[in-house]
Amino acid sequence: MTILCSPSQPSDELIAALGAGVLPAPTLSRVRELLEQLPTERLVVVGPEVGLDEAAGFAIDLRLTRPLVGVVAIRPELDVEAYAYAMQAGIRELVAVADLPGLVEACQRSQRLSESILLPVEAAAGSEGKVITIFSSKGGCGKTTLATNLAATLHDKGARRVCLVDLDLAFGDVAISLQLEPRRTLVDAVAMGENMDATGVAGLLTTFRPGLECLLAPVEPGDAEKVPAAVIDDLLAVLRGMFDYVVVDTPPQFNEHVLRALDGSDHHVLLTNPDMAAVKNLRLTLDMLDLLSYPRATRSIILNREDDRVGITAGDVEQALRSQIAARIPNNLEVVAAFNRGVPIAAEKPSHRVSEAIRKFSAQCLDGSLAARTRAAKAQAPKKPRGRWLGVGARGVRNA
Ligand SMILES: Nc1ncnc2c1ncn2[C@@H]1O[C@H](COP(=O)(O)OP(=O)(O)OP(=O)(O)O)[C@@H](O)[C@H]1O
Ligand SMILES: [Mg+2]
Repeated sequence: MTILCSPSQPSDELIAALGAGVLPAPTLSRVRELLEQLPTERLVVVGPEVGLDEAAGFAIDLRLTRPLVGVVAIRPELDVEAYAYAMQAGIRELVAVADLPGLVEACQRSQRLSESILLPVEAAAGSEGKVITIFSSKGGCGKTTLATNLAATLHDKGARRVCLVDLDLAFGDVAISLQLEPRRTLVDAVAMGENMDATGVAGLLTTFRPGLECLLAPVEPGDAEKVPAAVIDDLLAVLRGMFDYVVVDTPPQFNEHVLRALDGSDHHVLLTNPDMAAVKNLRLTLDMLDLLSYPRATRSIILNREDDRVGITAGDVEQALRSQIAARIPNNLEVVAAFNRGVPIAAEKPSHRVSEAIRKFSAQCLDGSLAARTRAAKAQAPKKPRGRWLGVGARGVRNA
């Protein structure tokens, strides 16, 4: 059922678009009364005659009292300012008055969202998910490939709730590698300001599979610059309350956003390939992480694209890094083919040797003992304002 707030008689087309069982209400006060009588109701559509301020006030109230109820507002016209204002208030969707197919889709999305946040909102009170950041300072090592595959592995066909965050703000590939259409992205989190919460963040997610959600990188040129690094702290804090695991894909650069993600993570997964430049870059990265006092116990090194033919063995890499490798992922063309099909190989072919290597790593290094190890390591680590100390700007230095 849907509650429709419309001071005048709604058109037949609008009623038909909203489907059977629509409950009309002439004012938002009447909507409030109806919601009290209908504890399982999940959707309110606000007609174009209701002012945006009034709709926003209503959405702010609902956010606290009934976070599972979505508000979709029909507007006489759409503009960027109205959109930012609506987002901040917690209105899930704005739809232009003439766009009935758009309204149907917006209502369906809101309903799906309510279902998907039902568990996280209930769980948010107590549970703490784990945040895992994947990083390599050399471009093209396979961060996005590993991030998508690790997310799929942890998701385990729906056994766990996982969120994949694309923190490669300017050149993010998660959307294209999973063939997702970015409707909302990380840049939309900025409008929430200090009002960021599970309901608001849930509205930014794009579903890959039920229970495997993605927070995608901005798509418009220049949008990456609009995301202040401090947003990452708030986002990760909210997401860890909503999901069992949050997997963060990063750009090949130490920038302030990446440092915030590393700070907010339980585990750092550092990637290299069996090539001299990648190994040298990882050596520098490890030195940098040591210098910044990130505890070694919270990091794993992965050798991706291992290949007997290239002349550098896992032993050579360990010697050069003076660190142990936690997992070796074979070089395999099927990984590229799966990437190009938009499905992580771990989801498509769980018994493939690449999928098995990732599953083994996940079981050994990211299992239940992770939280305890992280707590112990963090308790020992000194606190440092790492971003300022490094003196990096929002752009950092890209290494490819
Ligand atoms: N184990 C593997 N075997 C074969 N190909 C792989 C493997 N891992 C990654 N690749 C391929 O390597 C290329 C680069 O991978 P990916 O985009 O994941 O790297 P990245 O580190 O995210 O790059 P960037 O730094 O540009 O974000 C892709 O074509 C991907 O399919
Ligand atoms: Mg990438």
